[in-house]
Amino acid sequence: MSRLAAKSALITGAARGVGKGFAAAYLREGATVAIADINLEAATATATELGDAAYAVHLDVTRQDSIDAAIAAVVQKSGRLDILINNAALFDAAETVDITRDSYDRLYAVNVAGTLFTMQAAARQMIAQGQGGKIINMASQAGRRGEPLVLVYCSTKAAVISMTQSAGLNLIRHGINVNAIAPGVVDGEHWDHVDSMFARLEGKAPGQKKAEVAAGVPAGRFAVPDDLTGMAVFLASAEADYIVSQCYNVDGGQWMS
Ligand SMILES: NC(=O)c1ccc[n+]([C@@H]2O[C@H](COP(=O)([O-])OP(=O)(O)OC[C@H]3O[C@@H](n4cnc5c(N)ncnc54)[C@H](O)[C@@H]3O)[C@@H](O)[C@H]2O)c1
Repeated sequence: MSRLAAKSALITGAARGVGKGFAAAYLREGATVAIADINLEAATATATELGDAAYAVHLDVTRQDSIDAAIAAVVQKSGRLDILINNAALFDAAETVDITRDSYDRLYAVNVAGTLFTMQAAARQMIAQGQGGKIINMASQAGRRGEPLVLVYCSTKAAVISMTQSAGLNLIRHGINVNAIAPGVVDGEHWDHVDSMFARLEGKAPGQKKAEVAAGVPAGRFAVPDDLTGMAVFLASAEADYIVSQCYNVDGGQWMS
């Protein structure tokens, strides 16, 4: 299949995890993919692993100069930018009374401001090209409901869903489709980190939280990145030209349960 043939994609936070899975899927569909990450060494290793149509770009989504430089690097390498996935994000967990300003600032800088201003820079480039584009923001089931120990992260993902709605309505007149994906729980290094946080906060044994969460997913297991790639390819393809401002759950039934 080549549903993204000749397309130029930029995926933030693509050095590992879900973003890396998206990159591999886009490459299979014929796109050229910028593996953009704050960890350039890991991004370079990922790009090398994924093949000739992938290349690493250093990107810190909390810095405007870095966002602008990353977009410029993509245009220099591929001549254009057709698809952005705003995938980079940070997680934290704490009792409400223990949330720190540092945690709040870090998560909002990456998950909210990073998503907004990378989306803005990509949209400016797409508008200048005059041929529309596709922007996919990574939300979460956490953006649809609060969780007792996850106030800050949940609120950032609610903001991502809201920003997707407004930007989608605003940018569709330029032929730019902005939509979002809300995963449930995806296995990988991110969740190893989450599990260790809950072990500390709830006094659980390592792996216990993960096992409990997996048991509560109607599909009976955590997702792997490949469970999400079908939606990411679809939303980046011409088949999604009439889809605007939506957030799709890809969560094994978790939100519905
Ligand atoms: N893993 C899950 O269970 C899950 C569930 C719901 C939603 N999500 C969302 O899916 C997306 C990917 O999740 P993941 O599990 O692959 O995360 P991850 O932590 O494994 O990967 C995140 C990547 O973002 C990069 N990054 C961090 N700060 C950055 C910055 N300032 N600029 C650029 N890159 C930066 C990291 O280096 C890392 O490579 C995130 O938006 C996450 O919130 C994940």
